[in-house]
Amino acid sequence: MNQTESRKDEHVRICIEENVKGSHNYWDDVTLKHNALPDINKYEINLSINLFNKKLNAPIIISGMTGGYLKAKKINENLAVAAEKFQIGMGVGSQRAALEKTELKETYGIIKEYDIPLRFANIGASQIVIWGHKKTLENAQKMIDMIDANVFIICLNFLQEAVMFEGESNAKGCFEEIRKFSEKIEIPVVVKESGAGISYEVAKKLYKTNISGIDVGGAGGTSFSAIEHYRSKLKFDSLHERGAKTFWDWGIPTPISILEVGDATNWKLPIISTGGIRNGLDAAKSLALGANCAGVAHTFLKPATKSQNSIIFEVETLVKELRTAMFLVGVDRVSKMKDIGAELWI
Ligand SMILES: Cc1cc2nc3c(=O)[nH]c(=O)nc-3n(C[C@H](O)[C@H](O)[C@H](O)COP(=O)(O)O)c2cc1C
Repeated sequence: MNQTESRKDEHVRICIEENVKGSHNYWDDVTLKHNALPDINKYEINLSINLFNKKLNAPIIISGMTGGYLKAKKINENLAVAAEKFQIGMGVGSQRAALEKTELKETYGIIKEYDIPLRFANIGASQIVIWGHKKTLENAQKMIDMIDANVFIICLNFLQEAVMFEGESNAKGCFEEIRKFSEKIEIPVVVKESGAGISYEVAKKLYKTNISGIDVGGAGGTSFSAIEHYRSKLKFDSLHERGAKTFWDWGIPTPISILEVGDATNWKLPIISTGGIRNGLDAAKSLALGANCAGVAHTFLKPATKSQNSIIFEVETLVKELRTAMFLVGVDRVSKMKDIGAELWI
């Protein structure tokens, strides 16, 4: 295994074995108002949405997590089985490893064998700075072909890069690369954070580019600082072990980030609400705050490493809970969720 492969393997193992969640889950600070007279039929609630011109049967995306080492193929396959069954979106983790070592393509490409309505390619923002415009465009096409992607995600991961011992923390020129890239690439581009959230100011800047959506990837769920804390510990690197712990809870809470991004973009760009979503009620809260779709990573990871039945059960439960929450607030369409709003106590 080279360095990129073993890093991806360690991320998954640490997420399963250790507690890598933020100290506080901000979805607990959001409440929906009960409607004692909903006047709708629970079984007629329409959960389907249109996102990036594709129809999803529920407003759920399996957020990009893995690929790039041999065991990841099975995890991605299990996730793909569930994405196909429930007709929801699915992303893969950073595809850099397969560009460096083409025999790893299959660990991502396996998802092409499943009828998934919306597939997201993925690369870290620090990587496109290193590559520069021309090489990024060349590599992007390879990543799109690798999974037949409908959407391209650029992942802002500077918290992780800053605390990780082998991090690449040069963000100079990153915005300009995103701007140029979003103008050239043929499929929609989504900019995504990976656990530290996107502010009003950053969203305002991104809105001036040609991107098609924002995944807020806010704080309160998986903490990449926590993951890097444990990775440094494994390597007896006490300097980074301590630094990563300090930034464990760094970031903008996901519910706040949804509101900031919505305000900055006049609610004109689709918003994906990844960050700390544990169940269908959290997903419903995010829709009420104005997200178009909920993104879920960690909640789906453990079941996906176990079996296809485990991940199918997890997704089915989440979708059922979302339907129950919508029934209890008296809303029969996803697009109407933002009209009821939610109370925020953060
Ligand atoms: C094991 C693991 C690996 C991840 N790798 C990536 C990645 O390669 N690219 C990316 O954009 N996000 C990555 N993420 C971040 C997730 O997509 C998501 O933004 C984050 O975990 C917050 O969601 P959660 O609280 O539901 O876990 C990863 C998350 C986990 C748990």
